[in-house]
Amino acid sequence: MKYFFLSYIFVIAIVVSAFGFRGSKSELPPLEVFPDMDHQAKVKYQASSEFFADGRGARLPVKGTVPMGFEIPAKAAVDGATPPRVGFTNGLSYYDTGKMGDFYGDGLPSEIIADPAVFNAEFIKRGEQRYNINCAICHGTSGNGKGVTSRYGILTAFNLQQPGNSDPANAGAYRADGAIFDVITNGKGLMGSYGGNITVRDRWAIVAYIRALQLAAKESGATLQ
Ligand code: HEC
Repeated sequence: MKYFFLSYIFVIAIVVSAFGFRGSKSELPPLEVFPDMDHQAKVKYQASSEFFADGRGARLPVKGTVPMGFEIPAKAAVDGATPPRVGFTNGLSYYDTGKMGDFYGDGLPSEIIADPAVFNAEFIKRGEQRYNINCAICHGTSGNGKGVTSRYGILTAFNLQQPGNSDPANAGAYRADGAIFDVITNGKGLMGSYGGNITVRDRWAIVAYIRALQLAAKESGATLQ
């Protein structure tokens, strides 16, 4: 027992001398047990770099660089025609928010349905693909709310299908298109926001695909698995 206490005190002494007391100040560089990604090869601002022939560390963006959050302009824009709408916007229209004034709107916005080049079978396919990439892990491929994560503790992901008429508690399925758009953009409760990952048009494509899933569930009369 004596040795146990002695070795215990010894260990504490070692730990304290190596790490110091919590909050104590020191001029010395910190002792890093797990440096994580603190130190990375980089060029500091205004510093030179031997890597480039002209010796400058600061570089101009590569030609054709697209700022984060913007879509690559379609060919039409390059040719001087009207530029298409950027992928992520913070506009106030129904198309951008899913809201009309203070209220959620229902139906796909005219920017989509009025344009046959946008609103076609491809659009729903795109919605399916985006849904499977972004939403299926939680909401399930069929939208039944039993994605992979439900096996790891996320039990509340919504069943997005309209479940016949057996489950009135499933309000998510009845919400307006604009409301689903808004949930994708800003998240809700335990669900994070996907507005930064999914372009405005793709969000509407997902909404359209969710409606397709609901229709399929309704036709079959049961929750699709
Ligand atoms: C990380 C898991 C996760 C992902 C990924 C996810 N969701 Fe959710 N979602 C949830 C959870 C959990 C809830 C329940 C939120 C709550 O009420 O706390 C939810 C709720 C919802 C609701 C219902 C909100 C309401 O109250 O009416 C909709 C609609 C929805 N999600 C759509 C989507 C769509 C579309 C995507 C893909 C862009 C998506 N979710 C991706 C976990 C997720």
